[in-house]
Amino acid sequence: MKKMTKFLLVSAMFTGLPTLAMATEVEEGRKLYVNKQCFVCHGYDGKTTMMPSYPKLAGQNYQYLIDQMKNLGSGKRYTILTAPGIYQNLTTEEMKLIATYLSKIK
Ligand code: HEC
Repeated sequence: MKKMTKFLLVSAMFTGLPTLAMATEVEEGRKLYVNKQCFVCHGYDGKTTMMPSYPKLAGQNYQYLIDQMKNLGSGKRYTILTAPGIYQNLTTEEMKLIATYLSKIK
């Protein structure tokens, strides 16, 4: 019985904690997405974009999202429809959190 309790505790630690950490990252990413005004053009849900030609970000690949934020910030990718300044101010850590949030939207 004692062994069983220990086993359950250890499994809870290994399965529960990463899930909790992930949920926190998703929530932090969502806050950043709102605070950095991303929603204005890309929509609160990442799908309801301001203009039909603007890209939907919901459910997009994690690494692709980070790469594009970097490209748009550096000017490697440029369009008159968005400004490098919007992406330049993001730290790599912020990009990762935002990408975690966006990639998790169904
Ligand atoms: C002024 C409107 C506007 C704002 C604000 C804005 N974006 Fe964008 N974003 C765009 C447009 C337009 C594009 C498409 C650029 C192109 O056509 O190359 C784009 C492209 C992107 C892409 C690449 C999508 C793809 O499918 O390749 C990502 C990722 C992205 N934005 C994330 C963000 C994040 C994160 C923020 C907030 C920090 C943000 N955007 C704020 C208008 C905006």
